This record gives sequence, structure tokens and C-alpha cells, in this order.
Amino acid sequence: MPELIMSNDLLLSILAVTESAAIATTPFVGGGDKYAVDAAAVAAMRSAFESVPIGGVIVVGEGEKDEAPMLFTGDLVGTGDEPLVDIAVDPIDGTRLAAQQLPGSIAVMSIAPRGSLFDPGPVFYLEKLISSGDTHSLTLDVPLTETLLTMAAQLDRPVDSLRVAIQERARNQVYADAVRAVGAHVVTFRDGDVVTALRAAQHGSSIDLQVGIGGAPEGVLTAVAVRALGGQMEGRLAPQTAEESQLAAERGFDLNRVLRLSDLAAADGYFFLTAVTEVSGITSGIDLREVRIHSDNVHGTRSHTESVVISPGGAIRFVSRQRAV
Ligand code: FBP
Repeated sequence: MPELIMSNDLLLSILAVTESAAIATTPFVGGGDKYAVDAAAVAAMRSAFESVPIGGVIVVGEGEKDEAPMLFTGDLVGTGDEPLVDIAVDPIDGTRLAAQQLPGSIAVMSIAPRGSLFDPGPVFYLEKLISSGDTHSLTLDVPLTETLLTMAAQLDRPVDSLRVAIQERARNQVYADAVRAVGAHVVTFRDGDVVTALRAAQHGSSIDLQVGIGGAPEGVLTAVAVRALGGQMEGRLAPQTAEESQLAAERGFDLNRVLRLSDLAAADGYFFLTAVTEVSGITSGIDLREVRIHSDNVHGTRSHTESVVISPGGAIRFVSRQRAV
């Protein structure tokens, strides 16, 4: 698979896609309607892609499970020029957070060489295990309690110092029970498992491990960032309804298969994130302010966005931009 190398200009022109999605949400942030937030972001993202000089195919879209509008899997986006790439988008991760003006809502996208991203097909949920590269041999092949004990031993830390992020869902209670059974700490979060995963994937952050079942689209786009950051990640498709399981079986998905990081993202790619509401602690020293619209007599109406781009090799770049809207 050819390596994907992007110029600075191309990175900034692609970043306009997540920026546009974030900007479009501003009338709806705090408005209580998560579908309106998502719809505005999807429409803006679609239109922003039109002028981006890439030949993109949407491998992972988002929205169907929430009956929100889609960027459909298989859609071609960009001008069609090289580089030819796979795209995983989540126009807004944390639609509820945005609708309630709570921190942690983002517009997010990953781009990787064509053919490299995993397509979860009709399965909306993925079991995830994500941590930094500080330890080895973390895997879904063994029980979580064993993983935590291995982690503590490899890090030379007491197990009760481990902090494990788990999304607050009934389906994830079993993970929380396992974490507490060995004396480690559960850090509960309500929504937005992409941001939490970024924390888990980095050395020395406030999260040592993320486990539990979250969105499959979010999982694939997270894998690109984890790979770039040198972290560890595994996944296993985790359908939550009989219909999802049946569709997965009909499409030939093996629900027992542990997906390694190289199955989820088979080549190095780039990760783009723009804050919708404020986001703190993505990495030390970078806190993103919420997207803002300013008007004055001198400059007219301008948006102000704060974003990060993560490139292969782990460089994390902060981008603050203003533009006329
Ligand atoms: P949306 O903003 O797309 O609704 O996703 C928010 C989120 O919390 C994701 O971060 C997570 O992966 C997923 O929902 C979990 O799905 P569900 O809310 O259906 O449990």
C-alpha cells in the first residue's frame, strides 16, 4: 500500500472539512436537538469536501443508527485527484453534548491510503481496548482482569493506580465490574469515546486504558489516531440487536474475530478534529475552545475554530483559524 504523504497546504485544506462541520453547528449548540446538530454538520461536511483536492471514498460514515442524515459508505468525495484515500468521518462525535452545550463535542475525520480502513458494514458497535504504547501484549484475547494485572506489572505500578475510561452504558457494566474487581479505578464518561481514546493512547495522560462497547464508526476513525500516536488498540464487532447480528452474519462478518490495530487501520493516516464545544486534555498543553462566531463593523462576521491534526509518527499540531462566514 503506498505511503500517504500530505503537504501542509493539503492538510489545511482538508482540515476545512471538520472546521466547516463545527461552524455549521453553532446555531444549534445548546438548542437541545442533537439531530439538528448532526444534520447541519453532515451537510456542511459534504459541501466542504467538494473543493478538497483528494480522491476520497467514505468507508465509514455516521448517522444511520441515529436515523440522522448520512455521509454514506461508498460515497466519493473530493475532486477525485490523487491522493486516493479512504475516509472515516463522524461529522459530530458527541451530538448530545453539543445539543446540551456540554464539553467534549467534536467534528472528526480520519484519512488513510485507499483500501486501508476497516469497513464495519452493518454493525454499529465495537468492543474496544485502547492504551498507549507503554506496555505490550494488551489484547481482547484474555479477560480484562488479567489485562489490568499485566498492565500494572509492566508499568511497575500498583493496580489500584490504573485509571480505566468506560462509557456510561448498561452494556458496559460488566467492564466496570471487572476493573473494580482488581481494585483499579473507573473513569466514567457519558459521550464522546474518540476524545477519551486519544487520551488513553498517549503516554502519561490521565487515562491508562479505555475499554467497553462504543460506536464502530468512531472505533475505525480512532484507530488511525492510535496508530499515528504509537498506541495500542484492538476491537471486536459487538452488535447490540438481533437484526444487527443477522445482517453481520449474512455479510460474512466473523463476530468472534479480534480485530488488531492493523486490521482496523492497515496503513498510516491522518486524523483531523475540530472542537464544537470546549475540549480539554486531548494532550498535555492543548485545550481547545469551542467554535465561535464573532461580528463587528470592521471584520464583519467571522468564525473562530480550534483544531488538532495528528500525523503519522505522532506529531500533534494545533490549528487556530478565523474565517469569514
Ligand atoms: P454520537 O454523537 O454520534 O451520537 O456519538 C456519541 C457516542 O457517545 C460515541 O462517542 C460513542 O462511540 C457512541 O455514542 C456510543 O453509542 P450509543 O450512544 O448508541 O451508546
